[in-house]
Amino acid sequence: KVADLKGVKQGQLRLAVITTAKYFIPRLLGQFCQLYPGIDISLQVTNHEGILDRMTKNMDDLYIMSQVPDHLDVNFQPFLENPLVVLAPTNHPLVGEQNVPIQRLADEPFIMREPGSGTRRAVQKLLDEHGVSVKVKLELGSNEAIKQAIAGGLGISVLSRHTLLPDAGDLAILDIEHFPIKRNWYMVYPNGKQLSIVARTYYDYLLGAAKEFIEKNAGIYAEAKA
Ligand code: PGA
Repeated sequence: KVADLKGVKQGQLRLAVITTAKYFIPRLLGQFCQLYPGIDISLQVTNHEGILDRMTKNMDDLYIMSQVPDHLDVNFQPFLENPLVVLAPTNHPLVGEQNVPIQRLADEPFIMREPGSGTRRAVQKLLDEHGVSVKVKLELGSNEAIKQAIAGGLGISVLSRHTLLPDAGDLAILDIEHFPIKRNWYMVYPNGKQLSIVARTYYDYLLGAAKEFIEKNAGIYAEAKA
């Protein structure tokens, strides 16, 4: 039950976020919980298709995703850029080369996210637009596992720039033409659904926190645009 007594917000917040947002949202939840100690949270992390499924079943208060569903009637609000970049091990021969033709990706063993992933869909769309077919060496359902596989020399991949925060570690961003793929994170909820006071509080909080994040991390967006 949600109570809003004397401005003290209490109740439960149910969030479902795509896998790339897990690099951003949990840390912010720490701050949010300090501000509103009466709010308990459940956070589900799943891929694009998983979010759609949860939304259809009305399982959560708010959803965070990169691709607004076009077949569902929803409210959506972009709050942060989510560029997708090409990642390679730091000793890869293309590191440091500029504006490498996208066709070059066809020569590299490629690591791909699982079917149902929004990242995969965005990458496949760009490759299809340019008639590039990559050799998928490995299919993996986890951004973290993909990072390890790249570092281990299994191939290159395309992931959210946010998966490299706080630092890129053993990985380098390649400068391939048509990359980064520009995307945004959106807060989404079904149209006509009345947000609870708790959910509305979080919504407003996240918009503010995203602004602060952009100011502090201007570098990663500038680099992704360069
Ligand atoms: P994914 O989410 O986990 O479905 O790839 C990321 C995205 O859609 O940007």
